[in-house]
Amino acid sequence: MKSAYEGLVEHSKGFLGRDDAMRYAIGGQFEAFGVIERELLRFYGLQPEHYLVDVGCGSGRLAKPLAEFLQGSYLGTDIVAELVEYARSLAQRPDWRFEAVEQIAIPEESGRADMVCFFSVFTHLLHEQTYMYLEEAKRVLKPGGRIVLSFLEFLEPAHWIVFAETIEDARGPRIHPLNVFIDRHAIHIWAHHLGLRVDDIRSGGERFVPLPHPLTLEDGTVVEDFGNLGQSIAVLSKPE
Ligand SMILES: C[S@@+](CC[C@H](N)C(=O)[O-])C[C@H]1O[C@@H](n2cnc3c(N)ncnc32)[C@H](O)[C@@H]1O
Repeated sequence: MKSAYEGLVEHSKGFLGRDDAMRYAIGGQFEAFGVIERELLRFYGLQPEHYLVDVGCGSGRLAKPLAEFLQGSYLGTDIVAELVEYARSLAQRPDWRFEAVEQIAIPEESGRADMVCFFSVFTHLLHEQTYMYLEEAKRVLKPGGRIVLSFLEFLEPAHWIVFAETIEDARGPRIHPLNVFIDRHAIHIWAHHLGLRVDDIRSGGERFVPLPHPLTLEDGTVVEDFGNLGQSIAVLSKPE
């Protein structure tokens, strides 16, 4: 996965300027999705004084808009060091930590975080790796803390195109990281084995986060219509 993402960053730099390449490599829709991710976390209880761990933070799509809201601590981790450094430079928060990781691990002591998020991360990992990350997330969470994750599922008709594109990729020379789908039953079963509670699961197309419509971004772009991230959302919590 690390080489797939590093390859995508290098590939993007081949036809885009550095800023655009950093934004494109993690999936695009940089400004809009960053705001949606932040509002999703607020919807699920993130408070200004909380400590958030953002696993697979990429180039700072979430960190940038979050910096206006979150006064508490933040740890962003990613396997691609160049993306982590870009995220650090965008967030402009010397009090926040940004760290490159080499393994399925969260570099934090146990019981520290209020929330751990994985946006478009489990969409690219093996189920076993996802399970290991959920175990890590539970470890670093305070009792009562929450995990917010996005995922792709066959239940959501709009996700089929991602599967179809992944097949096309598999037929030719691949430039995109693998896309992995997760069944809702798997989330329930993983949570059971990990001693986590499933608080919520929402379909990708469902618009449930209170956002101003239309949403005007910092650069003046007006986003007329969006659901949430497009990916489905699951929220788990660590028992008190
Ligand atoms: C689609 S991008 C999403 C980035 C960010 N979460 C966002 O929503 O803007 C997926 C990110 O996960 C990172 N990633 C992939 N495998 C990872 C792993 N095992 N540990 C940490 N990050 C990982 C990639 O390098 C990439 O930056």
